[in-house]
Amino acid sequence: ESYDMGGHDTYMHKEIAEQADAVDRVLRGRIDERFATVHLGGLNLDAREARSMRRVKILGCGSAYHAGMIGAQMIEELARVPADAEPASEFRYRNAVVDPDTLYIAVSQSGETYDTLAAVQELKRKGARVLGVVNVVGSAIARETDGGVYVHAGPEVCVVSTKCFTNTAVAFALLALHLGRIRDLSVADGKRIIEGLRRLPGQIDEIMRAEDDIKKLAQDYAEAKSMMFVGRVRGYPVAREASLKLKEVSYIHAEAYPASELKHGPLALIEPAVPTVAILPDDELLDKNRATLEEIKARSGKILAVAHQEQEKADHTILVPRNEVELDPVLMGIPLQLLAYHTALALGRDIDKPRNLAKSVTVE
Ligand code: G6P
Repeated sequence: ESYDMGGHDTYMHKEIAEQADAVDRVLRGRIDERFATVHLGGLNLDAREARSMRRVKILGCGSAYHAGMIGAQMIEELARVPADAEPASEFRYRNAVVDPDTLYIAVSQSGETYDTLAAVQELKRKGARVLGVVNVVGSAIARETDGGVYVHAGPEVCVVSTKCFTNTAVAFALLALHLGRIRDLSVADGKRIIEGLRRLPGQIDEIMRAEDDIKKLAQDYAEAKSMMFVGRVRGYPVAREASLKLKEVSYIHAEAYPASELKHGPLALIEPAVPTVAILPDDELLDKNRATLEEIKARSGKILAVAHQEQEKADHTILVPRNEVELDPVLMGIPLQLLAYHTALALGRDIDKPRNLAKSVTVE
């Protein structure tokens, strides 16, 4: 990929549009049909280590942190190891206990974010095993970690992350599958995930074909005073990232909550000028999520659902193609990147260089 805009008005739009190709690239050459797993050449973690670790801790900032939240869920689901993600800066300032049985993973597009790098250095100093999930080859974090997975999203120029976020989530799916197949994941489940991964690029193209509809919705949502994003479990990191994306490029205030937490406070904010974007995959939580839509409707809140099927209670539904449930977060974020983009466009924002933000924060 070159740095020219290739006919797009902004890098953000170009990078959103490149995602099917980018996902194709992160998968390329890594799938092992025979053992229903993936090869990750630079991982530097042998099977014995993969079996003996007792926890996974993922560290990153901004969108990388949100991709890490998705990664932690995938690792728990597919590899059955307790895993969680934390902002790298919080981790390093709270003098966290560094546990020898924990695998640490630093996530970064640039590989140069100071807080993430400093967390890696502190971990290494204390003897921890640290891997990287990084986009820029040979960057500081890639060099300082013991091994890892390259994200292969290609150069990302727009300050806000889109294709790298998506590819990082896919890179985590690969890592989770790899760890799962060493631990307890069956061949049948390995095959199921591989088939799901292969469907992603075509499904991303399908989502992109709905861009005109999303653009129309954005005209409407651009008038919001503030927006609420909600999801449960797999939908929650998607809500977090979508809320961040909207704030960054449109400057509309947005909050993300687990749908179950709405009743513990944020419901007080719901009114017609504060619409909610609800992430509702067809998973085991669909009924619970539908009940949330009813709670919002009862307070006259407007609802935009991102779902696998039309949602009666919602004012609008953006339909996303079905995949394996573990991979839902990869696809469900993409229409919301388009929503953020078109909302910012409708408001005349400086999309590629939002005020007060930098692509890579290399200072403390
Ligand atoms: C900055 C950017 C964010 C990005 C974060 C982490 O704050 O504005 O878009 O997610 O840094 O960057 P990294 O390069 O470490 O992924």
